[in-house]
Amino acid sequence: MKIGVLTSGGDAPGMNAAIRSLAVVGASRGHVVVGVRDGYAGLLAGRTRSLDPDETEGITRQGGTILGSSRCLEMMEPAGQEKARASIVNLGLDALVVVGGNGSLTGAHALAEKAFPRGEVKLIGLPASIDNDVGHAGLSIGVDTAVNTIVDACDRISDTARAHRRAFIVEVMGRNCGFLAMRAGIAAEADAILYGEAGLGEDEAVERVRAVLRRCFAKGRAKKRALIVKSEGLPVPIGTLKKRIQAHLDEDAPGVDIRETVLGHVVRGGDPSALDRTISLRLGFAAITALEAGLSDVMLGWETPFGVGRETVDPSVRVIRLADVLDETARLLDGTSPVILRRIEMLKAVESALPG
Ligand code: F6P
Repeated sequence: MKIGVLTSGGDAPGMNAAIRSLAVVGASRGHVVVGVRDGYAGLLAGRTRSLDPDETEGITRQGGTILGSSRCLEMMEPAGQEKARASIVNLGLDALVVVGGNGSLTGAHALAEKAFPRGEVKLIGLPASIDNDVGHAGLSIGVDTAVNTIVDACDRISDTARAHRRAFIVEVMGRNCGFLAMRAGIAAEADAILYGEAGLGEDEAVERVRAVLRRCFAKGRAKKRALIVKSEGLPVPIGTLKKRIQAHLDEDAPGVDIRETVLGHVVRGGDPSALDRTISLRLGFAAITALEAGLSDVMLGWETPFGVGRETVDPSVRVIRLADVLDETARLLDGTSPVILRRIEMLKAVESALPG
């Protein structure tokens, strides 16, 4: 087979490891693996590069993506999808592996369903999104590294916060999904975690943090810092939150200062963790075997929730239809997925045990 690989949407640490795995495993089984540059935008323009295994040596440890990425709005439209179909045919691809998040997998499903309905060209998706907002993905490529990066940043902030007995609000990425804030917040010993899924309005968020600060710095407590981890998905600007809390700080926590830090794109970069490398390499391996088995219009998920999808030769990897993935992703994002409901329930239980 001639197999194309593209990385699309927000990059995620581990994308390069997936590319490496596809290049090496593909070549070892006699396939030709080519890289499509710059996501769907590059596909529409027919821009490719060689993925000779020797040329990809060492990329497993690198963040970002050597292929480049894009958020390609054209691909959301039928005309763009037709252009992609023509380009795939022109490049002579038998298969395309799309490494990316919700938008990228939506594009892959559209191609499989409309452009190649009889599996003439096979489409496989590998979930990559630091937000962990891809349905049935278990743990998407990039999430573990992003969590580690946030925890490291919060640890550093905590050092300086303790030296000054300060409160910090740290905002982390996760557009519509609070997973990063939740998981990293717990690991960094946060005193409160604010996330969009809880449905807090501005006044409620302010009151929540004020109450936490009152408890953290109550008379007689030896506590030296308060750490509030806020997901960007909570629709209250961090500056507003801080300003409103500061206005009451003298009464809530006399003598305590408050600072804010937005981690932003720092969370998305950096070398992938060992776990992200493992996930990416194994998903890449599974993708080649799935293509050889004739599968198309499917995603491969790492430790997908029990009972979802089909088993593969790798006990940690499952095959799920892209249509089911996209349905579940929509439920994750609108908060109706059982995964989200359980997550919120658990967070509420955890919150009652946080020191603040
Ligand atoms: O890739 C996901 C993500 O990093 C979100 O967490 C964030 O909201 C968004 O992408 C930022 O996108 P961009 O880099 O295009 O500004």
